[in-house]
Amino acid sequence: MKVKMIVAVSLLSLFACKEQKKEEVVTEDTLETTIDSVLIQATRQYEYLSEKVEPGQYPKTYHKEGDKLETSNSGWWCSGFYPGTMLYLNENNSSSVLKEETDAFLKDLAKEQFNTTTHDLGFMMFCSFGNAERLQPNPEYESILMNSAKSLSTRYNDTVKAIRSWDNASWNKGGDGDLVVIIDNMMNLELLFWATEHSQDSTYYNIAVNHANTTIDNHFRPDYSSFHEVIYDEKTGEAKMHITNQGAADSSSWARGQSWGLYGYTVMYRATGDSKYLEQAKHIADYLLSHPNLPEDMIPYWDFNAPGIPDALRDSSAAAIIASALLELSTYTDGENSQRYIQAAETMLKNLLKPEYLAEVGENGGFLLKHGVGNMPNNTEVDTPLSYGDYYLVEAMLRYKNLK
Ligand code: GLY
Repeated sequence: MKVKMIVAVSLLSLFACKEQKKEEVVTEDTLETTIDSVLIQATRQYEYLSEKVEPGQYPKTYHKEGDKLETSNSGWWCSGFYPGTMLYLNENNSSSVLKEETDAFLKDLAKEQFNTTTHDLGFMMFCSFGNAERLQPNPEYESILMNSAKSLSTRYNDTVKAIRSWDNASWNKGGDGDLVVIIDNMMNLELLFWATEHSQDSTYYNIAVNHANTTIDNHFRPDYSSFHEVIYDEKTGEAKMHITNQGAADSSSWARGQSWGLYGYTVMYRATGDSKYLEQAKHIADYLLSHPNLPEDMIPYWDFNAPGIPDALRDSSAAAIIASALLELSTYTDGENSQRYIQAAETMLKNLLKPEYLAEVGENGGFLLKHGVGNMPNNTEVDTPLSYGDYYLVEAMLRYKNLK
């Protein structure tokens, strides 16, 4: 049973503070205290969101017109973010409502451990069960994560030395004999490192390392921006096409793709200790932070080469992912670099936590962040909340608190 009364009382008290909060100016000096109060607000917001869905209906986005919450089933690539966000929030600020909701959604999500049709198992299973197992290690979660890693590994091709991201389809331009890899796939490797650590079977580790190396070789341009999609010949391993699916153009720099790369190579360094990956992450960070099209508030346009800049839409999810990655990267660097990464993350967080981007409790369909861009070329989830924007925002706030 959901505790509607608790949510209602919390909402009332938060609405009472609403006007006052809008007037507050968030400065760097107060970022820590702002984060503390936003995390409580976020818990209330997710309690509100939990009232709108039943297990199996994963919040995906919200359409302001028509006040419509869009949900997905567990097979959608974003299904792990809702339970993952609740696990982070509950870790910070215990909520029996979120605890109960998380358990119910994890129960539904568990079946995806056997899904071999997607590379997104890292997002789906590690952001959810990975966090659950981190907080409460137990054989059930471990078995689910191990099976998920096995399912993901079935998509590995040892000729290309990469994991197949998408099955071939006309919409992704993958034809017979092709192997399609997108930069996003870097985010699914953490699950494989977990699997080697927990099984002592190096197969998973080797797959992750090979995939990351192949991606360095073929996804990156000399300036360390990345192509979204590379199509390989699965028989020869030749990289045949460098294109985009969600960016503005094949040659453009899709903002979330850059953020996945930054985050992915930061994790690669954490997992392997190989300085090659640290250098890659630093190069990507330098590319992003010195880009002439990165606005002063450091919330990227949805594509660094989007048509219409400076009037192009921003992608709040990219900012949240970059901020979270930079905070981790800052711990592997020192001196000027470390300071630069922390300051950039602070600027991003400071701006994401302003009313322009952060929703009040009871607004925005129950999501935290406004103004994400899911898939502009497809005209889906454009200037809307996104479940992954929320997940990485909460993660970044917790990382900032821990760093301080
Ligand atoms: N495919 C993951 C994303 O849209 O970023």
